[in-house]
Amino acid sequence: MKKIAFFDTKPYDREYFEKTAHDGLHFKFYVNKLTADTAFVAAGCEGAVAFVNDRIDAEAVNGLCDCGVRILAMRCAGYNNIDLKAASGKLKIVRVPNYSPYAVAEHTMALLLCLNRKLHRAYNRTRDYNFSINGLTGFDLFGKTAGVIGTGKIGQIFIGICKGFGMNVIAYDPYPAEGLDIEYVTKEELFRRSDIISLHCPLAESTYHIIDQDALEEMKHGVFIINTSRGALIDAEALLKALKDYRVGGAGLDVYEEESELFFEDFSGSVIQDDVLSLLVNMPNVIVTSHQAFLTNEALKNIAEVTVGNLQDFFSGRPLKNEISARK
Ligand code: NAI
Repeated sequence: MKKIAFFDTKPYDREYFEKTAHDGLHFKFYVNKLTADTAFVAAGCEGAVAFVNDRIDAEAVNGLCDCGVRILAMRCAGYNNIDLKAASGKLKIVRVPNYSPYAVAEHTMALLLCLNRKLHRAYNRTRDYNFSINGLTGFDLFGKTAGVIGTGKIGQIFIGICKGFGMNVIAYDPYPAEGLDIEYVTKEELFRRSDIISLHCPLAESTYHIIDQDALEEMKHGVFIINTSRGALIDAEALLKALKDYRVGGAGLDVYEEESELFFEDFSGSVIQDDVLSLLVNMPNVIVTSHQAFLTNEALKNIAEVTVGNLQDFFSGRPLKNEISARK
């Protein structure tokens, strides 16, 4: 039986991993995030499982290796939080590349619909028997232009959803998908023409702050911006300023640049020290969800099954189809 240290465990993770057959693996569930300071809890384990906000820098990698861990299974698609160079040759890294692009694409549209039709405000009003609809005017999505940045698995599904609403779609991706009916434009043209901009690219050096002050200044007045990818794609301070100036009409954020110490935890009794986030959360035309776009039954089931499969492949000496390495 191979012992596997499972970091940053939430009840929904545990439920789905426990009900997935995991022959040969014994999960030890820990609530701590995986960082250089917590890696030591994996002592005696040959594998570890981590998630999006764990901080897997060189020190954490070495800490895991010192404990005897040989494989780190990410139970997510993104891997921007891992020092892959530090792991190279010491620690195998696997991930779940595709657990439910529908979950994320549908949440993206949910944020857009809620923001535009002001459902969050209507919900609060009617709970207080306030049946006024003043100030709740939205706009038809039909005929509007959605600009999609990143046309991989999630971006393509979101494009299909937008087309279902009768929207025009334009897209930017340095590696355009072939054989699809997508109008690719430059990033600058996308910023200029879009009524709604949705981010579906990974966080990398080339995409860090892809939406910064300059980009925001190029956009249409009143543009809606939705980010269900990674927080650091947007310069949050620049976005806040653009919202205060009424240049951005609405923002739906499932991710936030400085989310790692906050998201997935309950701070309802605390004073949040992040002023940018506090202001964003309090704006009537901003909706923040805490990195929950992936959170559907189907996605959790797929995450558990693929992660278990990745670990079993490794311990049985089978090829690792979901391996990531510094080269990729
Ligand atoms: P994917 O790998 O299928 O697609 C990413 C696309 O981005 C590719 O077409 C790629 O060519 C494109 N891209 C790369 N560099 C770019 C650039 N500089 N500008 C524009 N496009 C660029 O990935 P997938 O599965 O569609 O996921 C997209 C992102 O969604 C992930 O990187 C992850 O950050 C995020 N995600 C968020 C979740 C959530 O719960 N909020 C859950 C799962 C993924």
